[in-house]
Amino acid sequence: MEVVIVPRPEDAAILVADAYCALLDRTPDAVLGLATGSTPLPVYRELARRHRGGGLSFARARAFLLDEYVGLAAGHPERYREFIRTELERHVDFAPEAIIGPGDLDMDPLEAGPAYEERIRAAGGIDLQILGIGSDGHLAFNMPMSSLASRTRVKTLTPRTRQDNARFFDGDLDLVPTHCLTQGLATILDSRHAIMLGFGRGKAQAVREAVEGPLSSRWPASALQLHPHATVVVDEDAASQLAFGEYYRTTYAGKPAGQGL
Ligand code: F6R
Repeated sequence: MEVVIVPRPEDAAILVADAYCALLDRTPDAVLGLATGSTPLPVYRELARRHRGGGLSFARARAFLLDEYVGLAAGHPERYREFIRTELERHVDFAPEAIIGPGDLDMDPLEAGPAYEERIRAAGGIDLQILGIGSDGHLAFNMPMSSLASRTRVKTLTPRTRQDNARFFDGDLDLVPTHCLTQGLATILDSRHAIMLGFGRGKAQAVREAVEGPLSSRWPASALQLHPHATVVVDEDAASQLAFGEYYRTTYAGKPAGQGL
């Protein structure tokens, strides 16, 4: 696992956008894994900026969302599919139908998980998966104690996650769905490159446990320790509880120029 500590989220966005550019340059029909929430927003803004500048095209790419709420009507602004439409899709050039989420399969949520896994497999697997981390260490919507071998399925959101996400629902906890469909931890581990972002002090404990704690379903993001190509990009605040911060800084500073993430 590579840990990169940057001063600000905007600096992380530059590095991650570089990884998208390198991938799409090499493989224009790459398969992308998209996260929602506030963490990836600086990255999506940077991707949109580069697209406007003419240096980045998603015209042949396909994308799979990490997760989706269960129970929000189609078109609800807080549906993750809508979020991606507003924050990324509208600003770049994905082909129609190129982006799909686990809630888009028009089937009972309990049956959608295996069907979604099959869609990812049929697309050839995810080349680059971007991830945020929850303050309790959740990864996608794999809540604490999720199986490390889990696949896409329905999960119940923890009270803490619903509370954290109430800010997107006018602060009204009652409006936050209780269930979601989420890629599993094993699904995420199948991606060819996983980049997890974490910003702010509220993520510092979860980042520490994920990166330096024992592999444990108590901190689902620690599953990334099993990933053959995982990159964790955090700002100084989110890195503030890491014991090996200086080592990560020295290692990153010594990387051959142009190697990328
Ligand atoms: C979103 C997702 C979640 C978020 C996490 C952090 O698709 O899977 O795991 O990444 O809840 O949310 P923010 O970024 O809003 O702090």
